[in-house]
Amino acid sequence: MPGIDYSQKIPNNVDLSSDKRLQRALEEWQPNYLEWWKSVGPTDFNSTEIYLRTAISVDSDGWAHFGYVKMPDYRWGIFLEPRDASRVVPFGDHLGEPAWQQVPGEYRNWLRRLIVTQADTEPASVEQQRLLGHTAPSLYDMRNLFQVNVEEGRHLWAMVYILQSYFGRDGREEAEELLQRRSGNPDHPRILGTFNEPCTDWLSFFCFTMFTDRDGKFQLLALAESGFDPLARTCRFMLTEEAHHMFVGQTGVGRVIERTCSVMKQHPGKDPAQYGAFPLELIQRYINFWYSSSTDLYGSEVSSNSANFFAAGLKGRAYEDRYDEHKALEGALKIERFLEGKLVSEEVAMRNAMNEVLRGEYLTDCQKGIDYWNRVCEKQGIEFRFKLPHRRFHRKIGDYAAGKFDYEGQPISEAQWNAKVGEWLPTEKDRAFVQSLMKPCLERGKTASWIAPPPKGVNNLAVDYEYVKLGA
Ligand SMILES: [Fe+2]
Ligand SMILES: [Fe+2]
Repeated sequence: MPGIDYSQKIPNNVDLSSDKRLQRALEEWQPNYLEWWKSVGPTDFNSTEIYLRTAISVDSDGWAHFGYVKMPDYRWGIFLEPRDASRVVPFGDHLGEPAWQQVPGEYRNWLRRLIVTQADTEPASVEQQRLLGHTAPSLYDMRNLFQVNVEEGRHLWAMVYILQSYFGRDGREEAEELLQRRSGNPDHPRILGTFNEPCTDWLSFFCFTMFTDRDGKFQLLALAESGFDPLARTCRFMLTEEAHHMFVGQTGVGRVIERTCSVMKQHPGKDPAQYGAFPLELIQRYINFWYSSSTDLYGSEVSSNSANFFAAGLKGRAYEDRYDEHKALEGALKIERFLEGKLVSEEVAMRNAMNEVLRGEYLTDCQKGIDYWNRVCEKQGIEFRFKLPHRRFHRKIGDYAAGKFDYEGQPISEAQWNAKVGEWLPTEKDRAFVQSLMKPCLERGKTASWIAPPPKGVNNLAVDYEYVKLGA
């Protein structure tokens, strides 16, 4: 298996130098990418030295090297999992045929759309998080933010490699477009809703990495099954990076909860907000917002696109090998549809329900995070328990976007919704309070008032290690 060649302008393990045309195309894109990073990435920290990990091999053990890097000098590159020559299309109508090494002509447009949609989320999240460095609650957290940012940048590289390498001129145009759209820009927004939501405080950032990066995990799992082998291989390696992003989210929210619980124990019966911590109900509202928004990312409950993608062998189910059969031609999924203002139970042919199948896997995974946070409360002797709202709650995509649903998923009127929404979703007051606590805490080993210190540092280093050299 070829290792990663760092002597090249673009580090890679795909023998890029043997394909001069592709190498030239990517080398032309590279300065535009850097220009994008320097204008809408974490720009104010471009000359700061940060203790970051860089991939040095695609082996599952010891793939990373840690060291101080200035972000614009990060070695973004192209890393694919090694090819398995015996791999076959693992699902759909082409089940068992040799996996494709080139784009099947008849599926070219569908495939391009899938790749561009995934690719667009990567730079979007960097844009969303670009100012958070200014209000980091510790050097440890600041470093984690930047680690996530550079890896999302690398994910963009991963997808752009596929576009440029397999989609010719359209691919090059798409690669340019990926640097042109902007998160939250009304005239030229990013493709998916959640990736246009402002993420300007750290509670949102932790919820985002918990819930929205977790959507990324499941989309990547589904694409890692693709019969188009280069896409499958690139997504598999992206998944190894993604795990850290979700760790940042789950433990970040966990530390916020831990801090609040300890304030509640010290000052029983008092509002933790008085002591510079976030009330648990407020944290729950932030969870409700980011969870419901990320739930939308799976698309409509019933979808002919999802059926087409599955039939064609382009996008599978997460962990396809755990299923007994891989054509999904029989069987149905019972879905509570919302049609003409009523919930109606419908048996939906399995292939048309693939969005809902993937969403279901995601929801189960999110619940594990909730359980983890509830163990934090339990350990602290605090009775409060976190919950996930019903999947119909606060949806903007699919059947449920047509109505209003309460926390348990029951249809309610607009007036009922308006009366309760302040209990369920962050209010203006919540947002103002969260913002008021967003003061940087950048002294070595110190942590802001609203979050507990991390239990351990990065790469076995001390918690008070100088993860970011701000003076540099
Ligand atoms: Fe990503
Ligand atoms: Fe991510």
